[in-house]
Amino acid sequence: MARGRFISFEGIDGAGKSTQHAWLADYLRTKGHTVVASREPGGTPLGEKLRSLLLAEPMHLETEALLMFAARREHIAQVIEPALARGDWVVCDRFVDASFAYQGGGRGLSWTKLEELSAWVLGNLQPDLTLIFDAPVAVARQRLQANTAKPDRFEQEQSAFFERVRAAYLRIATENPGRVRVIDATQTPSNINKTLENIVAEL
Ligand code: TYD
Repeated sequence: MARGRFISFEGIDGAGKSTQHAWLADYLRTKGHTVVASREPGGTPLGEKLRSLLLAEPMHLETEALLMFAARREHIAQVIEPALARGDWVVCDRFVDASFAYQGGGRGLSWTKLEELSAWVLGNLQPDLTLIFDAPVAVARQRLQANTAKPDRFEQEQSAFFERVRAAYLRIATENPGRVRVIDATQTPSNINKTLENIVAEL
């Protein structure tokens, strides 16, 4: 059985990645793939409990990073690795790049510490493809305000925080040209759908 494919979705809050994540999961199913759609933090019963804490509870930035990676360890063991071994496609709303962008770029945790955690928790696992949905912070904030009744702990951050997160995502894209594609998230949803169709056809 051929190993499945692993696609992660990234971007600052409000960029619109979750809508596209749901769309791509459905699209791949119409192409005959078995798709596991998941998210981080979360994706397992324990991970969803950690997510509730992470999105609500004030904590030290290293605690935040460690809990993100603890949830990820569980997610890889329980969901991602078994699915890929079965030959399924895994589409994940956020994965490890979010830790580099938010805890590293946004909060200022050292890149080296994140690389150590990543080496520990991921081993050789990396997404085959990472889609970064990119939009100016002002645009994303406007969308967020229009769509979010009760902003979580991250969504309550100031614009400067999201500027740093966005810059970190763009740095990750530059450093990983083979894996990462940046999508202009200011396009219409149907144009983005077409872009995604073309990109996954290459996989
Ligand atoms: P998000 O996908 O934005 O959830 P929703 O669309 O339901 O609001 O993810 C929740 C938050 O978690 C998001 O603000 C980014 C943050 N996050 C990190 O800070 N580090 C991580 O490693 C991950 C996976 C998420």
